[in-house]
Amino acid sequence: MELKIIIGPKRVKNLKAWFSSYVKTFKFGDKELRQNVILKEEHTKRVCNEILRIGEQIELNQDEMCLAEIMALLHDVGRFEQYAHYRTFHDRKSEDHAILGINILNRYGILNGFEEATKDLILRVIGYHNRATLPSSEPEPGMLFTKLLRDADKLDIWKVVTDYYHRGNGQRNGALELDLPNTPGISTEVYRDLINQGVVDVNTIRNLNDFKLLQIGWVFDINFEPSLRSVRSRRYLEMILETLPESDEIHGIYNVTQKYIDHRLNGMREKQL
Ligand SMILES: [Fe+2]
Repeated sequence: MELKIIIGPKRVKNLKAWFSSYVKTFKFGDKELRQNVILKEEHTKRVCNEILRIGEQIELNQDEMCLAEIMALLHDVGRFEQYAHYRTFHDRKSEDHAILGINILNRYGILNGFEEATKDLILRVIGYHNRATLPSSEPEPGMLFTKLLRDADKLDIWKVVTDYYHRGNGQRNGALELDLPNTPGISTEVYRDLINQGVVDVNTIRNLNDFKLLQIGWVFDINFEPSLRSVRSRRYLEMILETLPESDEIHGIYNVTQKYIDHRLNGMREKQL
């Protein structure tokens, strides 16, 4: 049975008001906490914009746009408590921030005004947003929203990390580097995954170079054409690559990503003809 979603812009407005008052409660700590809380708050705002931009291009209707925006608004709600409690964004060193977010939304009854099916849909999509890959089974429209949220989230994380890698002041933020060591070289497993056009297994990353390569590998997990076009036009992959050591392996990885994007975009064009 098709899920009928009716969500007005007023709902989005109310949730935005709740979100900013919730985030405010974390802004009274030390400088590092405040800095990372603001980082995730700003990230959330931009993911909302990204999801609306992709949604517009794939022609979602107004209710779908509102639902997509709600998912983007709430997808990282677990990040604030995670950082305040554990002082890290590293899920494996603390807890899964998507599940934590779901628990917070349930704890405060934030989605209680929604129909049960819509509420479950929002929570499932939030739960999928940080998984290594798409869920193997999720009926529509859940899969569509999962794909949208994952693309929008990645587009903005690329912005955050490329700004960070190219920042002028040279100050490091351990939270953005998952506290990984800045040692030379890259892992064989990471190279192998990327050269085979696959996403990197997070369990194989050993240093900051591997982590940057993992971020490059997200391109193989992008779902929509407008998102791929943004990756290319904003030069995210190039900006990450510029901060990696020059080597044949890195060049090889870059060539594979470019061929992959060309193939996907050309394939999509052919389909449209
Ligand atoms: Fe997240």
